[in-house]
Amino acid sequence: MSIVYVNGEYLPINEAKISIMDRGFLFADAVYEVIGIHRNTPIGLNEHIDRLNKSLQAILINPPYSLEEWKNIFHQLLKKNPEHSEELGCYIQVSRGAQATRTVDIPAHLSPTIVAFLTKSTSSSVNSLLQGFKVVTMEDPRHRDNYIKTTGKLPSLLAYHEAKKQGAIEVIFIRNGLALECSSSNFFLVKNNILMTSPLTPTILGGITRDLILKLAKANHILTEEKETSLDLLHSADEIWITSSTRDIFPITMLDGQSVGTGTVGPLWHKMI
Ligand code: PDD
Repeated sequence: MSIVYVNGEYLPINEAKISIMDRGFLFADAVYEVIGIHRNTPIGLNEHIDRLNKSLQAILINPPYSLEEWKNIFHQLLKKNPEHSEELGCYIQVSRGAQATRTVDIPAHLSPTIVAFLTKSTSSSVNSLLQGFKVVTMEDPRHRDNYIKTTGKLPSLLAYHEAKKQGAIEVIFIRNGLALECSSSNFFLVKNNILMTSPLTPTILGGITRDLILKLAKANHILTEEKETSLDLLHSADEIWITSSTRDIFPITMLDGQSVGTGTVGPLWHKMI
């Protein structure tokens, strides 16, 4: 997967270059998307491009490409990297672009820097899925506007690093006593056969997978609630899942060192899968 897209060109990865004056590099003045690809088909492509455009508008960058133009880029990347596996991802990033020199004001007329490349899938083996995973909670170290999918992820990366040191695969962020979402996924919990997740507010990213799961659950007559989750509710959940385009639905069997429900992967997860 060594051919990448950068500003209109398809190049071997070590020939793809951007300026050190790029505002994405200097200020994380950039947004991104990660799209799952299954058997050459991007999953939820329209929704991802829609969310990308919303993130861009929120940081005052005009969306550079139409849906058709993005589709063509994915198509070309898949064609030019024929050795890829059935399950993979595509990362796309749009930054405000490069300036002549570093200034903190936001210049009006820069050409955005656009990159896209294929990534390996982070999906897990059936065996480890059936065992379930461990997560921990931590105070949310991020800013307010987490609905913008910005590349400025340093607080999340440090929290994730700490979670991994504790043997966990994700961290659920707590703010004002409420569980919001994870460092790079949303979470769901099951309590008394009701599937719950945080409501869509600017403090979380509206996950494409989250949306899909809510739709699937409703279509299958599973009761759902989008409601605020206290730490107590989280700790008393029968099941917890974390969800994202790269993980799909991971079942969680340990939270902060304690078993979730019976400590085994729950029945609603099996039903949903
Ligand atoms: N992350 N919340 C956060 C903070 C995320 O970064 C992500 C996705 C999600 C789930 O969104 P979706 O279901 O649309 O993938 C929720 C991607 C996978 C990443 O940063 O790599």
